[in-house]
Amino acid sequence: MKMIATLFVVFAVVSSALGECPVPPTIPGFDIGKIVGRWYQTVESWPENATTFTLDFTLREDGDFNFTARIADDSLPAEYALAKRTEYQNVLNVTDPYHKSRYQTTINIVDTDYDNYLAAYDCFIFPHHSAIHARYVLSRTETMNADKLAQLTDLVNKIGVSRD
Ligand SMILES: *[C@@H]1O[C@H](CO)[C@@H](O)[C@H](O)[C@H]1NC(C)=O
Ligand SMILES: *[C@@H]1O[C@H](CO)[C@@H](O)[C@H](O)[C@H]1NC(C)=O
Ligand SMILES: *[C@@H]1O[C@H](CO)[C@@H](O)[C@H](O)[C@H]1NC(C)=O
Repeated sequence: MKMIATLFVVFAVVSSALGECPVPPTIPGFDIGKIVGRWYQTVESWPENATTFTLDFTLREDGDFNFTARIADDSLPAEYALAKRTEYQNVLNVTDPYHKSRYQTTINIVDTDYDNYLAAYDCFIFPHHSAIHARYVLSRTETMNADKLAQLTDLVNKIGVSRD
């Protein structure tokens, strides 16, 4: 109960501080096509167990991306989506082909070197406001350098938080 109440407060603060999804600054020379392939995200819910997600971006003939997310141990079914390019080089518009989600979602890429790491956040676009939904750091390998992970987590956590 205590944890749920804490999460709710954080969510409320974030969503009222943001009228719209913040767009991350564009990385000079950014080429979103280079994010294709497999990424891993390891979430340690407890010290003794961790869940690894795999996220695959595949380039489609139309230049957009098929996006598949699955849990490495297949304990939940994979999720498929179409991730379309937007007017912002580093923002993808995610549409769920099965219309399971009622809201638009964007994937906002904050930083990546394409070969090792990718820091991003998802933003939900609701009818009257938008809110950052999830912030994450992905790795090309199943485990990531702890210092790099901490640095990128810190970077992505600052997005959308008042800068003054
Ligand atoms: C992780 O460990 C906790 C505590 O032992 C347990 O309650 C939880 O179900 C475990 N989660 C997974 C995904 O194995
Ligand atoms: C993308 O997904 C669609 C629908 O599932 C599929 O028909 C198509 O072959 C996929 N394209 C690629 C390049 O994976
Ligand atoms: C995302 O795509 C949908 C469907 O094409 C479109 O209606 C919507 O305006 C797009 N949103 C963004 C943020 O690009």
